[in-house]
Amino acid sequence: MRLFLDTADVGQIREGVKLGVISGVTTNPSLLYQAGRADYKAAIMEICSIVNGPVSAEVLSQEAQSMVDEAREISSWSPHVVIKIPCTASGLEAISTLSKENIKTNMTLCFSPNQALLGALAGATYVSPFVGRLDDVGQDGMGLVAEIVDLLDNYTLPTQVIAASIRHPMHCVVAAKLGAHIATIPYNVLIQMIKHPLTTVGIARFQEDWQRLSGQGRGDKR
Ligand code: E4P
Repeated sequence: MRLFLDTADVGQIREGVKLGVISGVTTNPSLLYQAGRADYKAAIMEICSIVNGPVSAEVLSQEAQSMVDEAREISSWSPHVVIKIPCTASGLEAISTLSKENIKTNMTLCFSPNQALLGALAGATYVSPFVGRLDDVGQDGMGLVAEIVDLLDNYTLPTQVIAASIRHPMHCVVAAKLGAHIATIPYNVLIQMIKHPLTTVGIARFQEDWQRLSGQGRGDKR
């Protein structure tokens, strides 16, 4: 499973990319707002320059032809851009048109297996089931990821599943076990994934023992 960062904060993206474990980024209007990036084009181009991989940028239009026009414009900003389009009838129509033009799409706000199937049939490069938002309303977010992965596998449809709306490290573990192609994660979840108290304690103990060894004059042959 690959990991994308779910943020428009370029500081976080730089830090994540430095670790060598992040291969893409997903953004949405809320994330751009949180990062204070009203300069949409500049923000997406800056993110693309940092990440050597797919960067999802969302259309704001709601009518199919306007979505397609917007998508054509956004996709001209960088070869890394993937157009994020919500699962609506207009969205499916736009995805279908864009896939014939080889413009990559990420069908977002996916909350059911049927929506994922329709996105895949329309030619979406990625579909993004929103795990955390389903959990928030008492439904099984990861259950949806499992259903979509199974369903697409049955027909070897090439659409990749992005487990989105990830809230904590266990979401990542489960997504990987289920065979999601990608999980898009907030920066804080990436940091939580790195840390383990026994790693911290282990490093401290090795340091202390090395200091003791040095005190005995045996620390010079490292
Ligand atoms: C996915 O691409 C979305 O940007 C994101 O995962 C939404 O997550 P949220 O439910 O935390 O807003």
